[in-house]
Amino acid sequence: MLKLDLTYTLAENVAGGLSSEEIESHSQNIADFLKRFDENKPGFVNTVLTRRWIDSVNEMSDFIFTFDNLVVLGIGGSALGNIAVQNALRPLNWNSLNAEGRNGYLRIFVVDNIDPDYLSSVLDCIEPKNTLFNIISKSGTTAEPMANYLIVRGILDAYGLDPKEHIIFTTDPEKGVLRRIGRSEGIRMLDIPPDVGGRFSALTPVGLLSAKAAGIDIEELIIGARDAYDKTIKSTIWENPAALLGVIHYLHYKKGRNISVMMAYSNRLYYLADWYRQLWAESLGKMYDNDGNRVDIGQTPIKALGAVDQHSQVQLYNEGPDDKIITFLRTEKFDREMIIPKIHENEPELSYLGGKKLSTLLNSEQVGTQLAIAKHGRPSLTLTFPQIDEYHIGQFFMYYELATAIAGELFNINPYDQPGVELGKKITYALMGRNGFEEFGLSENGEKKVEIK
Ligand code: PA5
Repeated sequence: MLKLDLTYTLAENVAGGLSSEEIESHSQNIADFLKRFDENKPGFVNTVLTRRWIDSVNEMSDFIFTFDNLVVLGIGGSALGNIAVQNALRPLNWNSLNAEGRNGYLRIFVVDNIDPDYLSSVLDCIEPKNTLFNIISKSGTTAEPMANYLIVRGILDAYGLDPKEHIIFTTDPEKGVLRRIGRSEGIRMLDIPPDVGGRFSALTPVGLLSAKAAGIDIEELIIGARDAYDKTIKSTIWENPAALLGVIHYLHYKKGRNISVMMAYSNRLYYLADWYRQLWAESLGKMYDNDGNRVDIGQTPIKALGAVDQHSQVQLYNEGPDDKIITFLRTEKFDREMIIPKIHENEPELSYLGGKKLSTLLNSEQVGTQLAIAKHGRPSLTLTFPQIDEYHIGQFFMYYELATAIAGELFNINPYDQPGVELGKKITYALMGRNGFEEFGLSENGEKKVEIK
């Protein structure tokens, strides 16, 4: 299991820490919440307790393994889980390996942005006839994946390729334009569980198809998530990583720590921090609480990479405003190791490195950074992966989704909606001339119709 170490968030070890009593004071309400939660499980939990979604992806196997490349088009929750899984569980050079080096699995490109330089450069890397395009949008109304879909569709047409043989839509089982087009044109489709929001959907067909295509063990991802849920439901607060993450972040927020840094000491884990950034920001950043009171709540998530960001961020973390709770991600085991050669043994600036493992240096730097931050009175947590594999990545997703639900309960806000992103979308639709959104656009003399004050 993943290990959460609280040492440097407790007041007994760090000046700005929390007392055990403060954490303990939430044990009963968290236990009550988890009891209700288990009786009325949300969609993201039910998803990992059934085989339905994993089977739907497995059923696509014969089709997907006829291709060399998979291009995923999606954004936000329809992309970040895929990116995190690929980076954690496939080597950085995966797409540069030949088919043999990839054991016949597909190269994976996840295109989220609508930057023409970016999309063009991905399309330059693939041959349409050997490529499967997975368009993911739960709503089917999101401009970015829809624009990229239309471009891809145009390319398939230009090459005379049958869209039915090159596209899978992953979308709501009933609603939206992708479902409509898929039905009328006979395009293969995967369902997104209707009761799972985008940022909670990494372990649904949204994230599982690209993982499967890259040869990642999707069964183990789900088993990891299921075990994390089981532990969360059965454990008391001190043995419960999800509850501790939720409570500790909440308590630090109450003390003015309105920034949550996730600092990964592993390039492979770094993209988990990107996924977390969306989950924490969009779920917990809310103007109104569940009783309709104006609260302007939210803890800003920041991602950082160790050791790189020691040389850009850590000065601020140590001596800047005491407004952060930092979570270090680290792994006990790297898949590959490098021993630093013993060269220049007479040079003390270099000789201490000779003969040591590169991973020992990286993990020592993590400890050094954490202790220095503690010495400055600033709190931190450590989440340790025994190794980076499917099982522990599945756990990570589930623990943080549960921690988000728990933090939502403590803040008394709805972590599953995102009303704040709607207005910007409407203005964009109006500026792009979409019918029905004229009131959000520009007047005839070029002034914005949306009043700011
Ligand atoms: O978490 C969310 O709901 C959002 O980030 C969505 O995933 C994102 O906006 C994409 O939405 P859709 O899948 O409907 O295109």
